Amino acid sequence: MKNKEQQGKGASSYLKLFCAQLDLLNFVAHALVFGIGLLIGITLTFFIKNFSFINFQIQQFSLPSYTLKPPPPPFSPISSNLSLSISNNNQTKNASHYPVGLVFDSGQKNTSSSPPKDNQTTPSSDSSIRVTNFTRIGLSEFLKPPMAMHDMTDEELLWRASMVPMIQKLPFKQTPKVAFMFLTKGPVLLAPLWERFFKGNEGLYSIYVHSHPSFNETVPESSVFHDRNIPSKEVRWGENSMIEAERRLLANALLDFSNQRFVLLSEACIPLFNFSTIYTYLMNSTSTFVEAYDQPGEVGRGRFKPKMRPQIRLSQWRKGSQWFQIDRFLSLQIVSDHLYFPVFMKYCKPNCYSDEHYLPTFVSIKFWKRNSNRTLTWVDWSRGGAHPSRYYRTDVTVEFLNKLRFGRTCEYNGHTTNICHLFARKFTTHALDRLLRFAPKLMQFN
Ligand SMILES: *[C@@H]1O[C@H](CO)[C@@H](O)[C@H](O)[C@H]1NC(C)=O
Ligand SMILES: *[C@@H]1O[C@H](CO)[C@@H](O)[C@H](O)[C@H]1NC(C)=O
Ligand SMILES: *[C@@H]1O[C@H](CO)[C@@H](O)[C@H](O)[C@H]1NC(C)=O
Ligand SMILES: *[C@@H]1O[C@H](CO)[C@@H](O)[C@H](O)[C@H]1NC(C)=O
Ligand SMILES: *[C@@H]1O[C@H](CO)[C@@H](O)[C@H](O)[C@H]1NC(C)=O
Ligand SMILES: *[C@@H]1O[C@H](CO)[C@@H](O)[C@H](O)[C@H]1NC(C)=O
Ligand SMILES: *[C@@H]1O[C@H](CO)[C@@H](O)[C@H](O)[C@H]1NC(C)=O
Ligand SMILES: *[C@@H]1O[C@H](CO)[C@@H](O)[C@H](O)[C@H]1NC(C)=O
Ligand SMILES: *[C@@H]1O[C@H](CO)[C@@H](O)[C@H](O)[C@H]1NC(C)=O
Ligand SMILES: *[C@@H]1O[C@H](CO)[C@@H](O)[C@H](O)[C@H]1NC(C)=O
Repeated sequence: MKNKEQQGKGASSYLKLFCAQLDLLNFVAHALVFGIGLLIGITLTFFIKNFSFINFQIQQFSLPSYTLKPPPPPFSPISSNLSLSISNNNQTKNASHYPVGLVFDSGQKNTSSSPPKDNQTTPSSDSSIRVTNFTRIGLSEFLKPPMAMHDMTDEELLWRASMVPMIQKLPFKQTPKVAFMFLTKGPVLLAPLWERFFKGNEGLYSIYVHSHPSFNETVPESSVFHDRNIPSKEVRWGENSMIEAERRLLANALLDFSNQRFVLLSEACIPLFNFSTIYTYLMNSTSTFVEAYDQPGEVGRGRFKPKMRPQIRLSQWRKGSQWFQIDRFLSLQIVSDHLYFPVFMKYCKPNCYSDEHYLPTFVSIKFWKRNSNRTLTWVDWSRGGAHPSRYYRTDVTVEFLNKLRFGRTCEYNGHTTNICHLFARKFTTHALDRLLRFAPKLMQFN
C-alpha cells in the first residue's frame, strides 16, 4: 500500500517534473518567438529607416538606449504623440547622430499651421513640435534685420523701433551702416545712378523705400531696391501724412541695429560724392543735419498756431528742409516723440506745412545742442515759388555739378570746409542720361 502510495507519489512527481519540463519548453519556445520578434524588430529598425514612424516606436519599446529620447517633462503631456510629429519631419534621418532638442513652434513662422500653443496642458495637434538640431541660441537671429515688408501696424512698429539697449557696449562686432530712406511716389526715378553709387559697398548701407501704397511695380532681383519697400500709406505734400511717412521710414530703419546714420531722400535726389566720401562724412560727424532757422513773416512764423501753446511757443517755432541726415539717437527720439507730434497732428493743418516745421521745431527745442541747423541736401529756391528749381538734361554739366559739390563753405566738426552738400535735388529723369555719363567719373564711383 505504502509502496503503491510511494509509487503513486513517484509517478506524480515524475508527472510534475515532466510538466515542469514542458513549462520550460513552453518558455523556451516563447522566448524564441520573442527573440525572433525582437530580431525582426531590430532588422526593421535598420532597413526601414525612411518609415520613421515604425522606426521610432520600435526604438521606443525595445532599444531605449539607441533611440532619440524625448525629454520627460515639461513636454511630457504631448510626447505620446511625438512619433507622429517626428515622422513628418525630414530631419529624423539624422536625428540620432547629434543632440536633439524640442522646440515649440511659435506659430508665427508658419501661419498655415495650427494656432500657437500657449496652453501646454492641451495635448492636441502635433505640428506644434519640431525636432531640430541644437544650433547655438545666440544673438544672430535677434540681430538679423527683419524684412522691409511686414504686417505690423504703425503703432506696433513705432513701439518696437523705440527700444534701446541699456548696455552701450556691444558684445559683438558691428559694422555701422547708413540707412538711405527714399520717400517717393512710385519708383526711385534715378535708380540707375544710385545703383552705380552703391555698387561695391555692400554691408555699409541699407535701403528703405516708402512709395505710394498703390505702387505695385516689381523691382528686378538684381537691383539694390529689390524688396526694399516698406508698408506705406498715402502721403500728401505739406501735410502730416508726410511726417508719418518719415517716422515710418525711420522706425523701419531702426529695426536694423547696425544702422547708425539715417538719410532721407526723395526720388529727385542725387548723390554729389562717391559712397566712401559720403559714408565717412556722415559717420565721422559730431552733429546731426536738420535744417532749422527762425523766419519772420508769413511763410515762417506766420504758420505758427497759438493753440500749440504751451508745448510749443512762437519763439521756438522753426522752419527748414525736410531732407535730413541724422544719427541713431535722434532717430529714436523722433519715433518716440509723443509730446510734440500730437500737437502738430492736431493743430498744424493745411497752410501750416508740418514737413517744413515739425522736425526743425522739435529738434531745436530738445536737441539743438548737437544739431548743425543745416542740411546736406542742396536745393535751389532762388527762382521763387512753392517748389525749388528742377533740373533737366542740359542743366547737367561738370561745372554745374562741381558748383554743387564745392560751391560754398560751412563748418564741419569745428573746421571750415567746402564740402557742405552731399546730395542735391531736384533732378528729373531727363537728366539721368547725362548724370550717368558725368557723375561716376567726376565723383569717382567704384
Ligand atoms: C494623438 O493625436 C491624435 C490626433 O493627431 C489625437 O486624436 C489623439 O488623441 C492623440 N493622442 C494622445 C494620447 O494625445
Ligand atoms: C526631405 O528633404 C529633402 C531636402 O532636404 C526634400 O528633397 C524631400 O522632399 C523631403 N522629404 C519629405 C518627405 O519631406
Ligand atoms: C545627415 O548626415 C549626413 C552625415 O552624417 C550628412 O552628410 C547629411 O547631409 C545629413 N543630412 C541632413 C538632412 O542633415
Ligand atoms: C508652412 O506649412 C505649409 C503646409 O503646412 C508648408 O507647405 C510650408 O512649406 C510651410 N512653410 C514654412 C515656412 O515652414
Ligand atoms: C488651457 O486649457 C484649460 C483646460 O484644458 C482651459 O481651461 C484654459 O482656458 C486654457 N487656457 C488657454 C490660455 O487656452
Ligand atoms: C543644424 O541646423 C542648421 C540650420 O537650422 C544648419 O545650418 C546646420 O548645418 C545643422 N547642423 C547639422 C550638423 O546638420
Ligand atoms: C498694379 O496696379 C494697377 C492699378 O493701380 C493694376 O491695374 C495692375 O493690375 C496692378 N498690377 C499688379 C501686378 O498687381
Ligand atoms: C571717393 O572720392 C574721393 C575723392 O572725392 C577719392 O579720394 C576716393 O578714392 C574715392 N573713393 C573710392 C572708393 O573710389
Ligand atoms: C574723423 O574725425 C576725426 C576728428 O573728429 C579726425 O581726426 C579724423 O581724421 C576723421 N576721419 C576721417 C576719415 O575723416
Ligand atoms: C542752432 O540753432 C539753435 C537755436 O534754434 C542755436 O541755439 C544753436 O546754437 C544753433 N546751432 C548752430 C551750430 O548754429
